[in-house]
Amino acid sequence: MALLLVTGGCGFIGSHLCAALVARGDQVRVLDDLSTGSRANLARGATLIVGKVEDPATVQAAMQGVDGVYHLAAIASVARCTEAWQETHRINLSATISVLDAARDVGHGLAVPVVYASSAAIYGVPDICPLDEDAPARPLSAYGADKLGCELHARVAGVVHGVPSVGLRFFNVYGPRQDPRSPYSGVISIFCERLARNQPVFVHGDGRQTRDFVFVADVVAALLAALPAASTDAPVFNVCTGQPTSLLELIDTIGRVCGTAPQVEHQAPRLGDIRHSVGSVLRARQALRLRPPIALQDGLSAVIGWL
Ligand code: NAD
Ligand code: UD1
Repeated sequence: MALLLVTGGCGFIGSHLCAALVARGDQVRVLDDLSTGSRANLARGATLIVGKVEDPATVQAAMQGVDGVYHLAAIASVARCTEAWQETHRINLSATISVLDAARDVGHGLAVPVVYASSAAIYGVPDICPLDEDAPARPLSAYGADKLGCELHARVAGVVHGVPSVGLRFFNVYGPRQDPRSPYSGVISIFCERLARNQPVFVHGDGRQTRDFVFVADVVAALLAALPAASTDAPVFNVCTGQPTSLLELIDTIGRVCGTAPQVEHQAPRLGDIRHSVGSVLRARQALRLRPPIALQDGLSAVIGWL
């Protein structure tokens, strides 16, 4: 049994991870400021420290005695990072450096492994799809730039300070508990809730932009497999399905699952929005021994069943 810290453990992805860790018998400590997450999401049996990851002393205290860290706390909305550049930089990049720094010694004189959330947003506009991990990193948003910064500092943490890590470049994650009421939430949760109530959905741009939508259970499987794979080489892996879906196709599929005829209204495209994003699953599947991903229609049924 290990003692693991999960930052952002009251959020969407973090809460599913904590539930899986508790279920397999680990002791789980969560650090979360409950800004976008909620106490109701806290896995039964996990302990909660309410605090800010951008405060290095809070991070250091939360990491005392742990065997490993999952660092998921961040501002996950690309649009919010565009609006609040400096504030989100402190949360999305400076806090990651605090986690890597504290991982050098958590009280027993040894470095502990860190698995942290990176993002497909680090790639920016792809030359070719699907994107593999060696594709050039040219982020278009403050959010993507900070996530790339996390990867660069993880490399420094490994080479200079002996801290083992793995960075997971999540593509567009969806599933139950992704807040459907926030305009900053993921598009699937927003569209599912609106279409299930027969309300129109608002599409930024023409709706032909594509995303690689990955179900949260597949993300949890990757997170669980990543901690034992942590190394001072600071490897990074895509977490995706390899399947592109346009927003218009997504709306059609949700309509079929809900049994409604979708009404669609178009709005101006978002600043910094990426046109096409689809990842290659090969490296992660091989290194982390991942099973084939859950099909979009099955994942959407789970979201609609949860609403
Ligand atoms: P989320 O907003 O549901 O979870 C983030 C959690 O972090 C919340 O519980 C929130 O309260 C907490 N938090 C935010 N700021 C904090 C702060 N300053 N101090 C302490 N806690 C703080 O988002 P999520 O979708 O679960 O994302 C988890 C991670 O995965 C993030 O790092 C995000 O950037 C990354 N990611 C998400 C996606 C996606 O599609 N959801 C894709 C790529 C990467
Ligand atoms: C998402 C994640 C981000 C992650 C990235 C990886 C969220 C909130 N953000 O960003 O953390 O790093 O994937 O690929 O999960 N859209 C609409 N109408 C809406 C909402 C969105 O048209 O009401 C459009 C957006 O303009 C965008 C697409 O849907 O083109 C996806 O948007 P969103 O779900 O916010 O995700 P990303 O910006 O791709």
